[in-house]
Amino acid sequence: TTMTTAGTLAFRGTFFHTPTYGQVEALRDTVVVVQHGRIARIAEGNKEIALVHEFGLSEVRRLKDTQFFIPGFIDTHVHAPQYKFTGTGTDVPLMEWLKKYTFKAEGSYRDLDAAHHRYSLLLKRFLANGTTTAMYYGSLHLEPTVVLVDAIERLGQRAVVGKVNMDRHSPSDYIESTSEGLRDAEAFIRYTLHKKCSRIQPCITPRFIPTCTPELMKGLASLARQYGTHIQSHISECCGEVNCVRELHPEFASDTALFEQAGLLTPRTVMAHGTLLSDQDLRHLASRGTAVSHCPLSNFFFGDACFRVNHALSLGVKVGLGTDVAGGISPSMLTAQRMAVVNSRCLRAHKLAQSGGTTVTADMEVDVLGWREALWLATVGGAQALDLSHAVGTFAEGKEFDALLVDTGLGGTCGPFDVFPDESDEQRLEKFLQLGDDRNLAEVFVQGVCVKRGHVFEREAAAEGQRAVEAGKQGAGDAEAAAEEEEERRMRAPTPTEPEAALVDLKAATPTVPSIAPAASSASIAQLAATVPAAAGEEEGAEGGEEGQEGLQELRAGEAEAVNASEVEPPVTKRPRL
Ligand code: GUN
Ligand code: ZN
Repeated sequence: TTMTTAGTLAFRGTFFHTPTYGQVEALRDTVVVVQHGRIARIAEGNKEIALVHEFGLSEVRRLKDTQFFIPGFIDTHVHAPQYKFTGTGTDVPLMEWLKKYTFKAEGSYRDLDAAHHRYSLLLKRFLANGTTTAMYYGSLHLEPTVVLVDAIERLGQRAVVGKVNMDRHSPSDYIESTSEGLRDAEAFIRYTLHKKCSRIQPCITPRFIPTCTPELMKGLASLARQYGTHIQSHISECCGEVNCVRELHPEFASDTALFEQAGLLTPRTVMAHGTLLSDQDLRHLASRGTAVSHCPLSNFFFGDACFRVNHALSLGVKVGLGTDVAGGISPSMLTAQRMAVVNSRCLRAHKLAQSGGTTVTADMEVDVLGWREALWLATVGGAQALDLSHAVGTFAEGKEFDALLVDTGLGGTCGPFDVFPDESDEQRLEKFLQLGDDRNLAEVFVQGVCVKRGHVFEREAAAEGQRAVEAGKQGAGDAEAAAEEEEERRMRAPTPTEPEAALVDLKAATPTVPSIAPAASSASIAQLAATVPAAAGEEEGAEGGEEGQEGLQELRAGEAEAVNASEVEPPVTKRPRL
């Protein structure tokens, strides 16, 4: 990680950001000096010469008239192993969608070569679209989620990452026992912390209530306390999910009450969706400092309701914005911002329709967001949700330099819109946010390092250059490099075994925590069982093996030996480096 250490950078030009909700602040003709990844100074342009001397700058880069900086986007909800099918498969409600597409797609990341390839593509796509920070769900499995963390480290994004936990109501080939889940979640936390990469933080990730026993949730909450990690899950997302939880846990009034009981609502918790949260729930989340990740696009497809951002903010809830790839069909936070605006206008239209009249009242306007509010959500709101306000979200001395160099001057068919000489620079910002895309992102910076310039991902290019140099050198470094390679190879070894017959296990897995633990009713089990694909293995086989299936084959072979895996604590020595 030392190969791309940031030196001192300095830029002179326009910087836009949104320190206050709904207000754009323009820092015009401003010099920003970046040292060791942090903003060391923000000063007026006429201080340039003094700064050159003070910081010993060799260059102050002047932005073109058509260029400006904005803070990097923060995506608070992404399912990394769903990237492969992004843009497809939104034809069924959430609970069916999980069974029909999602679990299978995520399981296929057990092929670690495929995971490596797909995660690299995902990260390049997100960085190219200006997402400098993301909160990721990995998959159920430890090893591919480790591959994700390694890829994030390599390509230079900032991230909060969790291994997904699910120990009930899941397909038999995509489930873990409670003890395995807790063990792997802890192994993942330790692996990630061990990297000592300041950009990457581990996260506790109970998928959502229907697939997590109260015992698992409580165990995960205690891991989060022990390691001080973030927590992420889904809350009150849609009718199917809410009805399922009511059936499983009738003694709890809401998802919020259940998460509270499990100890999962903390100031570092981000709960996705929340379209069906009551005011009481929202107040409760606010009192815990827990954030909601607003995912407008996936809410349109799966959410059954429009989340009221301004209402939640007014009750003191932290709100960030998420793409929710692949429930949201776009990986771009520009799309998420536009969808947040559209979502808010749907709320307005709904109120007008409900009134039965043609008079727009002030009450109908309260939900409306404009592009300025959306930009705030995508930057400051995300930083607050992820407990990163001290580091990112705006331009301020002492904060880290996560920034997008936007160029609106592409023109003609080279870019997505045109600019004209009589426009203000703020109108150009507005055009970019409404009409722009990755072509307008000339450079993307994370922690003061340019991670993408044009079509080149700088960290990857640097690493490749470094490898070439090292390959040329014989001797001293080789043993260390070989050891590292071996370490990586071992981390990528397939998981030992998986529990068989998850649905049979359901009764055994019935929660043992008395206050939270009614037996799942047989009706709900039947309902969930009915949605599990009868022959998941066959269908996956039919998908064909365009991306090496050997890892999967090995895992399947291993499954046959997984007798009562859920009751046996696997030997800890299977986990290297922890
Ligand atoms: N609820 C549980 N899992 C998921 C998921 O993968 N995506 C969405 N949108 N909601 C979920
Ligand atoms: Zn989600």
